[in-house]
Amino acid sequence: MPLVTTKEMFEKSMKEHFAIGAFNINNMEFIQAITEAADEAKSPVILQVSSSAIKYAQIKYLKKMVEAAVESTNIPIALHLDHGPDFETCKMCIDNGFTSVMIDGSKYDFEENVALTKQVVDYAHSKGVVVEAELGKLAGVEDDVNVKDDDARYTDPDQAKEFVERTGCDSLAIAIGTSHGAYKFKGEAKLRFDILKRVKEKLPNTPIVLHGASSVIPALVDMCNNNGGNIPGAKGCPNEMLKKAGEEGVSKINVDTDLRLAMTAQIRRVFNEDPSIFDPRKYLGPARDEIKATVKDKIENVFCSANKA
Ligand code: G3H
Ligand code: 13P
Ligand code: ZN
Repeated sequence: MPLVTTKEMFEKSMKEHFAIGAFNINNMEFIQAITEAADEAKSPVILQVSSSAIKYAQIKYLKKMVEAAVESTNIPIALHLDHGPDFETCKMCIDNGFTSVMIDGSKYDFEENVALTKQVVDYAHSKGVVVEAELGKLAGVEDDVNVKDDDARYTDPDQAKEFVERTGCDSLAIAIGTSHGAYKFKGEAKLRFDILKRVKEKLPNTPIVLHGASSVIPALVDMCNNNGGNIPGAKGCPNEMLKKAGEEGVSKINVDTDLRLAMTAQIRRVFNEDPSIFDPRKYLGPARDEIKATVKDKIENVFCSANKA
C-alpha cells in the first residue's frame, strides 16, 4: 500500500475511539523499528519529521527510507512534517511527497496564526495533502515563565471552532497541559480533560492532536542513569492519561522523547557492559530493538490502535 494521508485513519479513530501514534524519525533505525512494530501489530502509523531532523538527515534520504519501509510493510503509513515553522518548509515537504504537514503558528497571535495556516492549507489541499495546525501554547519548563496554571496558554474551545472554520485545517493540536521533552510535570501530572471535552463538543468531526505526549518511561530513564547518564527527575504523561485521551477524542498522539530514551538507554547499557565494542551494529541493533518494543507497547496497550490497519 502506498503512503496515505491521515484522513481515513483519523476517521476510523474518531468513530472507534482510539488514537494513532505519531513517532518522530531521524535515521534508518527509527524508521525500521516503528514500521516493523506497527506492521506486527497491524496498526496504522504516522512517521513524522521535524525541520531539525530534515537538517540532520536530508529530506531525500528520509523520503527514500520511508518508501522502503512502505514497501516492506502492509499497513497505512502517513509521512508528516512535525512543527512546520513556515510556509516554505511546508511547501518543500509537500513538493517532496509528504502526505501531511503541520504548520505551527502557535507562536503568533490568533489572526497571524489563522492567515499563515490558511496559506498552507490552500497550497496543501491543492496537492491532496492534509494539514495539522496548532492553537494554544504547550506548557514547558523551558519557558521563562511558569505557565502551568496560566489558563491563557490552554486552547480556548470557542477560538478553536473559529480557527478550524476559518483556516480549513484538517486536524488541530491543542494545549491541555502536556509539554515537550523529558520534564513535563514538576509535581503531579495533570491534564485538562475538561478542555478536551469542550473542544470535542465544538468540533466533533475534527481530529485532535496531543503533542508532548511521551510517558518518559521510568525503566528507560533508569537504564540511562544506571549506565552513566544524568537525567534526574524526568517525568512524563502517565499511560492511563494517554489512554483516556485516546478514548475521549484525541486522534493523534505525538511521541519523540520516549524513542530517544529507548535508543540512548540501550547504547549506554552496551557501552557500559562491554567497553571493547566498537562495531556500531552491536549497539544500534539493541537500540533499534528497544525502540520497536517501546512503539509496540504503546500501540497495543496505550493508544489501542492494534488491528485497526
Ligand atoms: O516536538 C518536537 C520534536 O520532539 C522534534 O524535536 O526539533 O529536536 O527534532 P527536534
Ligand atoms: P515528546 O517530547 O513528549 O515526545 O513530544 C513529541 C512531540 O510532540 C513531537 O511533536
Ligand atoms: Zn510537538
